[in-house]
Amino acid sequence: MKARPHANEHWGSRLGVILAVSGSAVGLGNFIRFPGQATLHGGGAFMIPYLVSLLIVAIPLASAEWALGRYGGKRGYHSPMGIYYAAGARKPICGICGGFMLFIAYVIDMYYLVVEGWCLVYALQYLGGLLKPLGLGFSVFPTIGPGLNLGSSEKYGSAFESITGLAGDGSLFSSSTAAVLAILALCAFVNFRLIYRGVSKGIERFCKWVAPLILLCSFLIVARVLTLGNPSGEPGQSLLDGLGFMWNPRNLDKTLLDMDVWLAATSQIFFSTSICTSAVCTYTSYVKSKQDIALSSVTATMANEFCEVALGGLMIIPPAIMFLGASVADKIESSFSLGFVVLPNVFGEMPMGQFFGFLFFSLLFFAAITSSISQLQPAVAFLKESFRWSHKTSVLVAAALVCLGSAYVCWFTARFAALDTFDFWAANFAPFLFAIVQTIIISYVWGLKNLKAELDRGAIVKLSPKLGVLIKYVSLPYLVLIFGIWMFQNFGARIETLKTDKSAQLSTIFLAAIVCVLFAVSYSTVRRWKREEKESASLNKESRE
Ligand code: TRP
Repeated sequence: MKARPHANEHWGSRLGVILAVSGSAVGLGNFIRFPGQATLHGGGAFMIPYLVSLLIVAIPLASAEWALGRYGGKRGYHSPMGIYYAAGARKPICGICGGFMLFIAYVIDMYYLVVEGWCLVYALQYLGGLLKPLGLGFSVFPTIGPGLNLGSSEKYGSAFESITGLAGDGSLFSSSTAAVLAILALCAFVNFRLIYRGVSKGIERFCKWVAPLILLCSFLIVARVLTLGNPSGEPGQSLLDGLGFMWNPRNLDKTLLDMDVWLAATSQIFFSTSICTSAVCTYTSYVKSKQDIALSSVTATMANEFCEVALGGLMIIPPAIMFLGASVADKIESSFSLGFVVLPNVFGEMPMGQFFGFLFFSLLFFAAITSSISQLQPAVAFLKESFRWSHKTSVLVAAALVCLGSAYVCWFTARFAALDTFDFWAANFAPFLFAIVQTIIISYVWGLKNLKAELDRGAIVKLSPKLGVLIKYVSLPYLVLIFGIWMFQNFGARIETLKTDKSAQLSTIFLAAIVCVLFAVSYSTVRRWKREEKESASLNKESRE
């Protein structure tokens, strides 16, 4: 019989999987969300809860998730549903929990693709300006010429409004923004194509090619920031002032007592490392059974931290302070305005700004693609396992459904109602919940012995035998505590918004429908697996008799 081309996929090399997982982790979260969160929550003081979460949540859970993934992969499962079913002692409830977990990556993908498209639109706009002296200038914005040098922050704000459709629902679907929609579609197509080419020929090859590019762009931008001196000549706007704004701990004692800061730091860790979101366990299910995972998991997590803290922390806020003064950072309302409105202002002022703008948005675009493909792959694996569809059919269906979600996000753009609702449930609520579910399954169903055995198999460096104990007795209570407080503080406000905001209501119904479908499909798949196991057990018994 001819083997199916994607039936038994593996990563080509150890470096390949580390780059793919780091690629999944390094994304918009590192370069836009992290600097925004850090400045909003006390600058350097934010780093204390952030580092605590890194040590007691991210590093141990990332290693455990790598172990879970490879354990499931060896048994032929690649979706979180299958992986949790295998590790959860084949209990149907564990498989169904894994099925729900898909919600996180898939729903995030629906809006992440859109933001990725904005990055490409901006990069192309800068490219158009860069090529103008050669007579090749072009513009994707309907109302402005090539490049992005608009002179006032209102103009940058209205350019952002017109490409995102922020002005009103459906405003993106007009003839003047057709170029933007076409770029969004192109961007989605690139993602689908990479997933279609498969784990090692598509994802791995792309990540190997793009990782050096991302590093090169970041180093060039960091070098530019560090050599700017005091470009405006104003007092309080030197490089050191910029760095100080980002890194000096403000009101340390008050900040550490503020639960909001702890919540923000832990959420940032989940979003940034992509752990407990189904992306990491799916990726690591393609690791070969005797290949190291202990050192690789720590390497991937640390690579992400380097890009986030060292590179992301240097690239965004310091130049904003240097060109626009300390007051600007106090006015940043959201990460989006930081990246898409404030920074273009900075590039507008900077020598060779068109070039650095192009470099920065290309960096964001490439970093975002390696992340968004990791959000889609779990869904493809899920469809293959649930319906036994071919690779091609599964990619087509996953792609079509994600396009539907992205189109929804592109339509309901007024106040970013859809994007904000999707982000609340999929990037804030669900990762906490599933981190708790995952830790419970690891600690009480799969068991710490299995975890240790899996981590040690093929390990280049063995991790501490106490890792499991840390997960069970420190990470789990910490997560329960933070989640409890988070629910207490945020849930009421969210329900209040739901009462008044029609688009938010509709978006919540949309998400609830996804949850119902995930439940129905994983329930019936897990039942089928159980039935098949019973049948094969009774066949075995018969043949022995
Ligand atoms: N880690 C990515 C970032 O920092 C986002 C990301 C990638 C993600 N894969 C994910 C988020 C899966 C949730 C689920 O931008």
